[in-house]
Amino acid sequence: MLEPTTEEIRRTIGDVDNDSSQLLPILWRLVDRYGWVSPSMMNSVSEVLRRPFAEIYGVASFYQLIPTEPVTHPRVGICLDVTCKMAGSQAVANALNQTAARDSIHPVACLGHCEQAPVAWAENRVLTHITQDSVLRVLGKETQP
Ligand code: FES
Repeated sequence: MLEPTTEEIRRTIGDVDNDSSQLLPILWRLVDRYGWVSPSMMNSVSEVLRRPFAEIYGVASFYQLIPTEPVTHPRVGICLDVTCKMAGSQAVANALNQTAARDSIHPVACLGHCEQAPVAWAENRVLTHITQDSVLRVLGKETQP
C-alpha cells in the first residue's frame, strides 16, 4: 500500500500552525483521505505538529474509529456499551458473527446516540436502531429471501 509523503500529509492536514489541539481533526482528515493512519503517517503528523510520536500514536490508537491498520473490507462498529447492550446490540453482534459479515464486525464504545440504541458506526455515519438485516444491507450482504 502506497504511503503518502510528509509533504502530502502536510497538504492533507492544511495549515494547522503547529496547533496540537487540532490533532483529532487531523487524524480524521487522514482517515477520510487514506482510509487509515499508518505509523509512517503518524510520524509525519509528529513532524508537522512538532509533537512526540508517542503522543500521536497514543491518540490514534485510543479511538476505535481511527483505523491504524489498512482497512481491506467494510467495517461496522457495533456499540456494546450499556445502553446499546440493553437494547439488544449484543444479540445483533452475536447473530452477525454467524454470517459472512463476521470479519466486518467489531465492538466500539458509546457513540453518543444512546437514545437511538442499538447503534453502530459504518461508512462514516451512525446507524440507529440496528438489526441484523439493517447491518447486512449496509455491508451489501443482504440475506436472500
Ligand atoms: S451506549 Fe451505544 S451509543 Fe451510547
